[in-house]
Amino acid sequence: VPTAVVIPAAGRGVRLGPGAPKALRTLHGTPMLIHALRAMAASRAVSLVVVVAPPDGVAEVKSLLDAYALPERSDFLVVPGGDSRQESVRRGLDALPPQYEIVLVHDAARPLVPVETVDAVIEAVREGAPAVVPALPLADTVKEVEPAGVPGEPEPVLATPDRSRLRAVQTPQGFDRATLVRAHETVTDNVTDDASMVEQLGLPVVAVPGHAEAFKVTRPLDLVLAEAVLARRRL
Ligand code: CTP
Ligand code: MG
Repeated sequence: VPTAVVIPAAGRGVRLGPGAPKALRTLHGTPMLIHALRAMAASRAVSLVVVVAPPDGVAEVKSLLDAYALPERSDFLVVPGGDSRQESVRRGLDALPPQYEIVLVHDAARPLVPVETVDAVIEAVREGAPAVVPALPLADTVKEVEPAGVPGEPEPVLATPDRSRLRAVQTPQGFDRATLVRAHETVTDNVTDDASMVEQLGLPVVAVPGHAEAFKVTRPLDLVLAEAVLARRRL
């Protein structure tokens, strides 16, 4: 089944601190986006990757793709992103040629996801799940609070959900293409992942095992961890 990946890479990376857009920051000298692209193209099932670039960075991303040797098995497209992750993903979906029936959405900010995770997600979609998320059990206990709205103010704790039923979800998330397109046409609420839009359509979403190395580079400490993982891989 023809399979494509959309990589939203248009965010600024505010939580990482000042600097280039997050996807263009380097890990061991190579932009995060290139690591993420290689991770996706490493799957034999993937034949197209659509990169959603910062709106003012399309030319820069195109020249990066030319500068780094990428596997010839996959084709690459670059399109400009939008103001929200959702809008960026939608623009990526709009650029997909008709033959792709399975679509993965993968954050550029998860540059180190192993190919085994990518393949597990694709496999579950092939077996009939309309939406698939890689997920991990939580290490921390999670509390629901009444948000203070002011940083640093104490917040009343309201509840402690049963941790054994909670999962932290990652990307790539995998979809039946028609389902994901419909979700993006239908759901207008702000969401933080694509699978939750499919949930809102009332369709089943399944979780497959995620991987610790698929963590999202969000804050400065995550850069330290990512470079340590690369050093262990000797890249
Ligand atoms: N993203 C995007 N378009 C946006 C916002 C985010 O394509 N308008 C992408 C990011 O580039 C990233 C992924 O969505 O690969 C996950 O978002 P996040 O980790 O929040 O990245 P940023 O939005 O860049 O970071 P921050 O929220 O700290 O600014
Ligand atoms: Mg963000």
